[in-house]
Amino acid sequence: MIGRFNHVAIAVPDLEAATKKYREVLGAKVSEPQNEPDHGVTVVFVELPNTKVELLHPLGEKSPIKGFLDKNPDGGIHHICYEVDDILAAREQLKATGARVLGDGNPKIGAHGNPVLFLHPKDFYGTLVELEQAKHA
Ligand code: CO
Repeated sequence: MIGRFNHVAIAVPDLEAATKKYREVLGAKVSEPQNEPDHGVTVVFVELPNTKVELLHPLGEKSPIKGFLDKNPDGGIHHICYEVDDILAAREQLKATGARVLGDGNPKIGAHGNPVLFLHPKDFYGTLVELEQAKHA
């Protein structure tokens, strides 16, 4: 069901400092910050030759990243994202196995303009998994 690896997302306590570190210490190409109010995050994209890293920072009071950073004040890996061809078909297949889809279970539009869903970390070995319906898939 899952296809290509799309990105790993890292929650960071200071987006400016993290951007600078990826740009200047690691020498990576880093985008300008983008606000994602539907997801409660501000994100910058680190473009690597074969994949992407997203640096996430809380946006707004109800940000899901906020609690994560309270527990991990230095930051940490927040989720990983796999691509799927058909997100609704993937959702139904996963739900049939008992896997829990977060939120209201309906895909939201993610940072790349594609529909995304999140799966409960307890069902996937302590890892929050994002599924993204990729355009090129
Ligand atoms: Co993501």
